[in-house]
Amino acid sequence: MVLSLLLLLLLSVCNASHFFGTVMTYYPSYTDINQTVQVVLRAKMNFHLCSQLTRWSCSSLNCGTEILLPNTVIDRESSDDWCQYEEISTRQVPNNAPFLLMLSGGSWVGNNNGITNWRAITVVDVRNRSDTNKANSSPQTTILPLLRVPSNCQRDFNLLAFDSDGDNVRCRYGDASLSECYTCTQPPVLNLSASCTLSFSPTSSSNEGAYVVQMVMEDFPKQNITLTQTNGSQEVKSNNDAVSKIPVQFVVSVDPVVPSCTEGLYLPKFLPPTPDNGAHLYTLVNQSLTIAIKAETLNATMSELLYSGPSSINQTTSGPGHYIMTWTPSQREDGESHPICFVVQATYNGVKYHSELRCVVVAVKAPPLFRHKVVVALKIKVSPSSPVSEEDIRIGIIQKVKHELDSRGIASNVTLRLVKTDTATPSPDC
Ligand SMILES: *[C@@H]1O[C@H](CO)[C@@H](O)[C@H](O)[C@H]1NC(C)=O
Ligand SMILES: *[C@@H]1O[C@H](CO)[C@@H](O)[C@H](O)[C@H]1NC(C)=O
Ligand SMILES: *[C@@H]1O[C@H](CO)[C@@H](O)[C@H](O)[C@H]1NC(C)=O
Ligand SMILES: *[C@@H]1O[C@H](CO)[C@@H](O)[C@H](O)[C@H]1NC(C)=O
Ligand SMILES: *[C@@H]1O[C@H](CO)[C@@H](O)[C@H](O)[C@H]1NC(C)=O
Ligand SMILES: *[C@@H]1O[C@H](CO)[C@@H](O)[C@H](O)[C@H]1NC(C)=O
Ligand SMILES: *[C@@H]1O[C@H](CO)[C@@H](O)[C@H](O)[C@H]1NC(C)=O
Ligand SMILES: *[C@@H]1O[C@H](CO)[C@@H](O)[C@H](O)[C@H]1NC(C)=O
Ligand SMILES: *[C@@H]1O[C@H](CO)[C@@H](O)[C@H](O)[C@H]1NC(C)=O
Repeated sequence: MVLSLLLLLLLSVCNASHFFGTVMTYYPSYTDINQTVQVVLRAKMNFHLCSQLTRWSCSSLNCGTEILLPNTVIDRESSDDWCQYEEISTRQVPNNAPFLLMLSGGSWVGNNNGITNWRAITVVDVRNRSDTNKANSSPQTTILPLLRVPSNCQRDFNLLAFDSDGDNVRCRYGDASLSECYTCTQPPVLNLSASCTLSFSPTSSSNEGAYVVQMVMEDFPKQNITLTQTNGSQEVKSNNDAVSKIPVQFVVSVDPVVPSCTEGLYLPKFLPPTPDNGAHLYTLVNQSLTIAIKAETLNATMSELLYSGPSSINQTTSGPGHYIMTWTPSQREDGESHPICFVVQATYNGVKYHSELRCVVVAVKAPPLFRHKVVVALKIKVSPSSPVSEEDIRIGIIQKVKHELDSRGIASNVTLRLVKTDTATPSPDC
């Protein structure tokens, strides 16, 4: 009896292992008439199986009261490599003093940098910013639980680092002295830049295997700002002081040598209309946004699209290498920007190959009105046979030029305006 209980305990501990990392982001939701601040926290939780659950905890004094929505699965790899689910919670805090959330426990998936226990920290700061006159929000990013690269190929993983307050976002590896990870051994095969690019260079096949990446992403104001708390106390942050801090933790698998690193053979290659990495897309509340993704491989079989983003994304496949993601933001996401990252996976003889990583930012608001406004100044010399007024030029000549542009297929929403006229004295030989 005791033995079986012990076994059961051991089993459930084993079951709780196989952590694949986490990402946490937050947005302030509103400041009440009674000055209560709400913050919506979105944690991406990565495990081997969707049934492996854990919770972020708050150890500060002013964590307020938490409303936790049911977990929803974002995506899972079809052969159960991993599952990513989203844990959305709302905290109603009595005042907007910064607070700290922590995740700790269990065991990471087996890895070459010898990390066993997981730990992650989020610093939530929703104080009013003097530059935007609004509550602060965290950098926005997401990541897949597992990214693959063959050991003989070069690859840059350009992580999405967006901040809706307009801050500079910087990345660094976690620091054990700040409790940002429990064992913070960095993956020796990966270089991380402050601008959040993780670079892998071809390495010996003896380095193949999984590596745990434990990063911290922070937002730095572009100039000095003042943060104001509900009770009136203020703090100045310079462009060297981070406001928030979020964890970005995942696994990079360095896989066996591929016969060719050229995209489109074994490693899937993205084709149009797949959005570019870093593209900004726009949609509105209750309005579906469709993202079409197309990829090909000659020497491997396209198997699936893997993605991370809001859990309300729907994905369909419309043929090999053709995928469609649909997202309809709800009222709660109004005005916010949400990241979506994806790779496509192909297989050959049971070996899995990933495309490059691409990420886009979806803003739930109207797009800027003149996104591609181009101003062209034209200087035209007109030699009329009879005297003309400025009015004649405005109506007659401008209209002729417009008509000519239209007939040559130049976009019909081009507007023409007469800036100024100069009457030149006709030269003697005219
Ligand atoms: C503030 O308002 C919110 C929502 O109206 C309410 O739930 C909360 O209890 C109020 N807090 C205080 C301290 O009155
Ligand atoms: C990381 O960068 C350093 C300096 O630029 C370089 O010497 C090293 O080879 C790089 N390591 C990897 C794994 O790319
Ligand atoms: C920014 O704030 C720091 C103190 O946090 C101060 O030393 C510095 O002079 C300020 N810079 C400007 C441009 O105001
Ligand atoms: C934050 O700024 C908004 C807009 O100026 C204001 O309504 C609100 O009271 C401020 N909140 C705090 C805590 O200062
Ligand atoms: C505001 O609250 C913070 C704690 O959250 C405290 O340290 C500070 O002294 C308070 N300031 C005022 C002006 O009451
Ligand atoms: C979005 O749809 C919900 C549910 O149908 C509705 O309550 C809400 O008013 C709609 N919001 C907008 C901005 O259309
Ligand atoms: C890929 O497949 C083509 C035939 O479809 C073959 O000719 C080529 O050698 C293969 N390339 C590699 C690198 O295996
Ligand atoms: C997503 O799929 C669910 C379940 O299949 C469906 O109820 C929902 O309407 C779909 N949403 C969109 C935007 O297609
Ligand atoms: C102008 O027209 C082109 C093509 O019809 C369209 O793509 C673009 O969005 C339009 N621009 C504006 C500012 O309406």
